[in-house]
Parts: sequence; C-alpha cells; structure tokens
Amino acid sequence: MPHTILSLESSCDEFAAALVEDGRELLASVVASQAELHARYGGVVPEVAGREHLRSVAPVLDGVLAEAGRDWASVDAIAVTRGPGLGGSLLVGINAAKALAWARDLPCIPVHHIEGHLYANWLAPSLDAYDGTPPPFPVLCLVVSGGHTELLLMRDHGHFQRLGQTLDDAAGEAFDKVGRLLGLPFPGGPAIERAARDRDPAARLPRAWLRGTYDFSFSGLKTAVLHRVRKEHPEGVTDPGPLARAFQDSVVDVLAEKTTRAAAEFDARSVIIAGGVAANGSLRAALQSRCAVPVRWPPPRLCTDNAAMIGAAAHYRRQADPSLSFDLFSTSGPGVFQAGVG
Ligand code: KG4
Ligand code: ZN
Repeated sequence: MPHTILSLESSCDEFAAALVEDGRELLASVVASQAELHARYGGVVPEVAGREHLRSVAPVLDGVLAEAGRDWASVDAIAVTRGPGLGGSLLVGINAAKALAWARDLPCIPVHHIEGHLYANWLAPSLDAYDGTPPPFPVLCLVVSGGHTELLLMRDHGHFQRLGQTLDDAAGEAFDKVGRLLGLPFPGGPAIERAARDRDPAARLPRAWLRGTYDFSFSGLKTAVLHRVRKEHPEGVTDPGPLARAFQDSVVDVLAEKTTRAAAEFDARSVIIAGGVAANGSLRAALQSRCAVPVRWPPPRLCTDNAAMIGAAAHYRRQADPSLSFDLFSTSGPGVFQAGVG
C-alpha cells in the first residue's frame, strides 16, 4: 500500500501544501507566494506574512487535493515544517496541521525546514540531472537559501554532520542585499542572475576563503559592492550587469570550491544542492564541472520554499521512527522552533 503524506510549509512568505507518495512521488504541489506583497518593502515583513498565511490555508488545501484528484480518505499522515523560520508564519502551518491531524485521527510529523530543502533531491519527477535513483550515500549537501548557508555530510537518512556554515549573511541574503544596492527588484537572487547573464564582470571582487574551515562569509563582499557603487555610481546604478556578474562569480567560486573540497575529503559518492540559491544556473554549472562525483539539484520550483520537500523528508523520518508525531495537545511538541538539522 502506498503511503501518502499531506504536507504543509509556512516558515517564511510562502504558504504551501503538497501530496507526496512514499517520499518520492509528487502527486500535487500548491504554493501561495507572497513575493509581490513584500516586494514593495524590499524584504519579508513578518507580521504581514503571518496574516496573509491565514487567508491561504483553506484555498491551498482545497487546491492540492483537487490537483491530485484525491480526497481526505487517501491521506495517511500530515507533515509540517516545525522551524526554523518566522514565528508567526510557522504557527499558522503548525496549527493547521495539528487541527487536520486531530480531525482526521492521523499522525502529524514535524520536519526541520533545512532537512526539507535537502529532501527535494529525493522527489522523483523529472528532476534535472536525475538518473532515476536516489543520491547515493555518503551525500555532501550544500544548503544555500535566504536564511541558511551550510555544508552538511549526510551519511544516511536522518544522519547529518555539519561541516561549516556562514559566519554572517546567508548566500541568498547576500544576493538580496546586493540586488537592492544595484537597484534590482526583490528577491535579488533571480534578478542578479538575469542581469549577469552574458555580461563581463566589472572587476574581480574579493573572495572570503576562511582557509582551513568549511565556513563562509559574505558580508565583506557585500561591503565591497557597496563601496564600488558609492565610488563609481554615486547617482545610482544604471547598468547593473557587470557588477551583478562580478558578485555572482565571487559567491559561486567560494561555494563551489569549498563544496568540491569537502566532497573529496569525506569521500562523498554524490553532491546535492538545496535551497533557493540552488536555482542559480551558474552555481550548478560550477559544481558540475569541478566535482568528481555526480551533482544533483531539484528543479527550480522545488528549490525555493514548497511543501513537497517537507512531505519527502517526513516520509524518511517516519520510516526511521514510526511513532514520530507532534503531541497535538502540547505547546512544546518535538523540537518546535529548534535550530539545527537532525
Ligand atoms: O529557500 P528559499 O526559497 O527561502 C528560504 O528558506 O530562505 O530561498 C530564497 C532565497 C532568496 O534569497 C533568493 O534571492 C534566492 O533564494 N534565490 C536565488 C535564485 N533564486 C532564488 N539566488 C540566486 N540565484 C537564483 N536564481
Ligand atoms: Zn527555505
């Protein structure tokens, strides 16, 4: 019998639901994005995000069942992002999930947001660079999102060792902040990638190698862009392409180099990229050309926040621990808002 999970994700400015079968087969995925709502503020406004999520719960749930052509009888478990994320946003998803689990007498599986991003690589449908088998362990994982930059070694399902992380800005955050400096729309990541396409770099920008560690730092690079903008474009940047390209080159070089080195040091049999910045084509190309083992990434719509990845991660968590569930009547269920994967 297939095991079907209905999953919810609401950690930031997306409210999403998905139906995933056996951790790999994506039956339906609906994402209500608030990107346009927050674009006018140049970043996510937490209070606005939480309130908007409340309006999305019913239509997104109805939408995902309709898209899959299923009804509640085919749902075996509920899963939901437990954190990390914005408190008000998380609460909407967690409480919706608990209510559904209680009403339907189903388990409610809590999932760490970053673990979810990684498991987007286990979803089967037509992934780019997908050869039909799950990534072989040990897997070297590069997580690059708006809130996180981490290198993790995954020896098996649920077993994560953190090798390094950012000491300041996350990679996506750096893209967003530099996008703003260059006068590009929010979110900055896709806008910078578009602006940089087929352009020559303005000049070589610095790389923070932090030698001898697998840690990252992007705030110095951001400041370097700021200085160049102030010095060379005091009236504002009219042609962001060359600086966008130089910035992207610097971020991609450091991410790809450290990931490649870690994969070799820990004898990884595959490399996966996860999180919003994994949608970046230049990062994918650099990793593919430098790594000696296969590099996988999810299709762009599964790189940014979505619930399908939460359903996939929940399946493997539940396999490892069949009793795993939120206590529906406690405010302190397993690991709510806890940081750290695993
Ligand atoms: O994973 P995600 O959707 O949300 C978080 O959990 O943070 O990541 C969003 C981040 C944003 O900072 C956005 O600028 C970045 O991912 N991003 C990109 C690209 N697409 C999204 N960064 C670089 N290149 C892209 N193509
Ligand atoms: Zn995310």
